[in-house]
Amino acid sequence: MSGILDGKRILITGVLMESSIAFHTAKVAQEQGAEVILTAFPRPTLTERIAKKLPKPVKVLELDVTNDEHLDRLAGLVKEELGSLDGVVHSIGFAPQDALGGNFLNTPFDSVATAMHVSAFSLKSLAMACRPLMADGGSIVGLTFDAQFAWPQYDWMGPAKAALEATSRYLARDLGKDSIRCNLISAGPLGSMAAKSIPGFSELADVWNHRSPLEWNMTDPEPAGRGVVALLSDFFPKTTGEIIHVDGGVHMMGA
Ligand SMILES: NC(=O)c1ccc[n+]([C@@H]2O[C@H](COP(=O)([O-])OP(=O)(O)OC[C@H]3O[C@@H](n4cnc5c(N)ncnc54)[C@H](O)[C@@H]3O)[C@@H](O)[C@H]2O)c1
Repeated sequence: MSGILDGKRILITGVLMESSIAFHTAKVAQEQGAEVILTAFPRPTLTERIAKKLPKPVKVLELDVTNDEHLDRLAGLVKEELGSLDGVVHSIGFAPQDALGGNFLNTPFDSVATAMHVSAFSLKSLAMACRPLMADGGSIVGLTFDAQFAWPQYDWMGPAKAALEATSRYLARDLGKDSIRCNLISAGPLGSMAAKSIPGFSELADVWNHRSPLEWNMTDPEPAGRGVVALLSDFFPKTTGEIIHVDGGVHMMGA
């Protein structure tokens, strides 16, 4: 059976639990014919355990996206395994507790800086670390939560996502000459570890119960994973700097 990622080599970050968007991305990518390599934070052992539930075995490499040594050695390690890359998935987000949950006005800059470093600047770091492996072009895909709006509880993750969205556009601008596209999926709320770490996340997620034209299932990350895989495929060949919503339609509802 042929798939839309047949013959493609894809690096996927962010597999932590089975609830991770990255886990479902890896699953759909393998089902669609891709050869997948995962990176793990904080420990490869955790990701390796979850990765056993994927359709095919995968290699897991350690990557803290704020660690320059990890970033510097990444291309060499991936090259040994796969030779080159056609796609890279950034499925990474983190903000310290005092940057979330209604503390916006009192968050210290150190915590804001951490959120920005891990959640936004890291898209540039990952893209540059993988660029040498995409000599024939490629597709970089990240995950955002619509940064046009001020959401309840989301606090400094909001500005971090706004920075991620802008970073994606600037990467699209600067990497276009290498035939590398950079796009984001803007997902609706999903009950992953990252989401559970946001105090009051259910209040935010409840918006989808009232406003989503399509029924939204917070426990099903597969639609987001499918969106990522579509952007990794050859079916968006001239799309870059774009944000595609996989949010049930909430982004376009006026009330
Ligand atoms: N869950 C949601 O409601 C939702 C909605 C829209 C967008 N997103 C975004 O999707 C992406 C994936 O999140 P998820 O919901 O699958 O949660 P998740 O907790 O499963 O994934 C977050 C990942 O970030 C990784 N990470 C954190 N710090 C890191 C670091 N320093 N280096 C490398 N990796 C690091 C974690 O290991 C984890 O795998 C994030 O960008 C998140 O903001 C999530």
